[in-house]
Amino acid sequence: MSNNYVPMSTQPLLSARGLCKTFGGVKAVQQAGIEVATGSITGLIGPNGAGKTTFFNLLSNFIRADSGQIELNGRKIDNLQSHQIARLGMVRTFQVAKALSRMSVLENMMLGAKDQMGEKFWQVWLQPNQARIEQRELKDKAMTILSSVGLSAKVNDYAGGLSGGQRKLLEIGRALMADPKLILLDEPAAGVNPRLIEDICGHIHNWRKEGLTFLIIEHNMDVIMTLCDRVWVLAEGTNLVDGTPTKVQNDPRVIEAYLGID
Ligand SMILES: Nc1ncnc2c1ncn2[C@@H]1O[C@H](COP(=O)(O)OP(=O)(O)OP(=O)(O)O)[C@@H](O)[C@H]1O
Ligand SMILES: [Mg+2]
Repeated sequence: MSNNYVPMSTQPLLSARGLCKTFGGVKAVQQAGIEVATGSITGLIGPNGAGKTTFFNLLSNFIRADSGQIELNGRKIDNLQSHQIARLGMVRTFQVAKALSRMSVLENMMLGAKDQMGEKFWQVWLQPNQARIEQRELKDKAMTILSSVGLSAKVNDYAGGLSGGQRKLLEIGRALMADPKLILLDEPAAGVNPRLIEDICGHIHNWRKEGLTFLIIEHNMDVIMTLCDRVWVLAEGTNLVDGTPTKVQNDPRVIEAYLGID
């Protein structure tokens, strides 16, 4: 037997390497990468303008990268469209919650399902009976999810009437309609009151226990420290360090990157 036995590392659920994106002259993301282990809550932090949201946009192919590779569960996804990526199990939420304020909470959930179904949605319309059944199933699913995040009483309210935190929960709920394996959350605690931040963290914790994996951008370090197994730091579009939350929080390079911005 060879002495050079190297144990096979567990394949990450999501991995990206060498991602680049330039807007005009601005190098928003330069040679950045990440690994997200299955079942983990992984954090992505960095100063304002570091390229975190752009990096999410590249991962979900909301914006096409100039170069780089992305794999989900070992499958190359950089040529797929966002809804195809959603069907493979990766969905994302937006830094500014995209809830449509003049639609009800339930309608927002149903619309979220439509977005994530892509062309399948139109097949449903070509088979009306099937459509009715699927609509009912979707509605039941939406109601179950809304109840799990404490929004049952708001089902028929305009999404515009929700608080910042409730809107974030609606957005996560909408992402859950796709039965994802991995959810990318862009600042789930921003603009949310402290009590609801605790609720959101509790929900994320529970969903992870049920088998979901999370990648979370967040400026709130309490949230990162409470939830994350591993944290990746972006600065000026590129990877600075990664490691446990404690290691990263105490790393002088990270402290310098944050101080440098002010
Ligand atoms: N569509 C765009 N067109 C031009 N420049 C952009 C675009 N999107 C992002 N940028 C620029 O890319 C850089 C990275 O922005 P990005 O929003 O990804 O940062 P961020 O880390 O998410 O910041 P924050 O913490 O403030 O949300 C910034 O300089 C930003 O102005
Ligand atoms: Mg951002």
